[in-house]
Amino acid sequence: MNVVIIGLGYVGLPLAQEAARAGLRVTGLDVKQATVDGLNSGRSHVDDLTDADIATMIAQGFRATTDPAGCADPDVVVICVPTPLSESDGPDLTAVRAATHSAGTLLRPGTLVVLESTTYPGTTDEVVRPLLEKASGLTAGIGFSLAFSPERIDPGNKRYGVRNTPKVVGGLTPACTQAAADFYARVCDTVVLAKSAREAEMAKLLENTYRHVNIALVNEMAIFCHELGVDLWDAIRCAATKPFGFEAFYPGPGVGGHCIPIDPNYLSYKVRAELSYPFRFVELAQEINSRMPGYVVDRAAEILNRDAKPLNGARVLLLGVTYKKDIADQRESPARPIARKLQQRGAVLSYHDPYVQSWQVDGRDIPRAGSPAAQADLTILLQPHACYDLDAIAAAAHLLFDTRGTLSGDGVFPL
Ligand SMILES: NC(=O)c1ccc[n+]([C@@H]2O[C@H](COP(=O)([O-])OP(=O)(O)OC[C@H]3O[C@@H](n4cnc5c(N)ncnc54)[C@H](O)[C@@H]3O)[C@@H](O)[C@H]2O)c1
Repeated sequence: MNVVIIGLGYVGLPLAQEAARAGLRVTGLDVKQATVDGLNSGRSHVDDLTDADIATMIAQGFRATTDPAGCADPDVVVICVPTPLSESDGPDLTAVRAATHSAGTLLRPGTLVVLESTTYPGTTDEVVRPLLEKASGLTAGIGFSLAFSPERIDPGNKRYGVRNTPKVVGGLTPACTQAAADFYARVCDTVVLAKSAREAEMAKLLENTYRHVNIALVNEMAIFCHELGVDLWDAIRCAATKPFGFEAFYPGPGVGGHCIPIDPNYLSYKVRAELSYPFRFVELAQEINSRMPGYVVDRAAEILNRDAKPLNGARVLLLGVTYKKDIADQRESPARPIARKLQQRGAVLSYHDPYVQSWQVDGRDIPRAGSPAAQADLTILLQPHACYDLDAIAAAAHLLFDTRGTLSGDGVFPL
């Protein structure tokens, strides 16, 4: 089986790895020459795959290209390109459209095309299908199969990957769903059939919106629990002992990554555009979560104030600037708006992160501290990477603001 994966990032590359491991002949198509050259010479650019993994994939027949002509005769084409927000915070499907056009030029009778990029319900049918039909001259559901399968990659997760995370598939027709299910059964242990592509698209947005809303709930609670003198982390620990009906979410300095801050907007856009009313839960969650960086900075000023020190001129050390622990990905990380606001208020910043060798905010280099225990007037723990010795950090810090609820003791201030 010839498989073409369009978009070799955090999503496409692990899928390519699993498909190559399953014995499929995999070609990766990407627009970035540097990505393609790196992969073909055995270099990984994503956290979850090592250079040795890429070497194994190459030995299994994987290769990458920027040229659609180098992907002839695919049985399956999977689209894993980015779906960012536009200037007006609406969906930006530029990459999906371009990748779909490339896929359309590769189609032959019987090919299966799957969209994995997160997007609003209806995209597969209303955007992808017409482009494929125009480029190929074939009809979806008759000449070729078309489906949506939400991607569920969790970067840095050592327990769940492409193979053992159940895969939802929904096709344009029941036959398309079955064609997609047959393909994914080769690379995933469990395949879940959705009623159609729209339900599969909605399932992904439901998953992400659920996280977004629940994180906003505990973030809002963290703010008033601080004022009420209640330890919210301890309350969550107690609530989480209930064996049914509760899932623990934790407050933090803001949400980051490619998914949670972005994808729910795709859903609220669709509701507003088609039904002319707001998806209030998403908009409220967006408002609360996006205010967290400002709250962190206000709290930093309050903590320094106890030491009779103004934020203006204070040396502030930020620990962990990636959007998630134990990975290098900085996309949408709340560390950046926090650093920006601290600088605006006159703080003298430094940072430490074992995964980030140099860090710029608004084009300015932030000095990298030699150690997470470096001296500062205030240390703010943003990301408790597993390699951090938190007790040593707490012992060395003059004042430690812990935005993750991982530490306690004198001189430690929780969010
Ligand atoms: N990263 C995650 O944790 C995650 C999780 C769930 C869902 N998603 C979704 O998966 C999709 C892909 O995300 P990602 O994190 O893999 O993005 P990414 O930026 O890591 O990778 C996307 C790749 O697609 C390439 N690309 C862009 N336009 C292209 C085109 N026209 N043709 C070929 N290649 C093209 C880029 O060069 C890049 O290498 C998004 O819709 C995202 O929302 C991501």
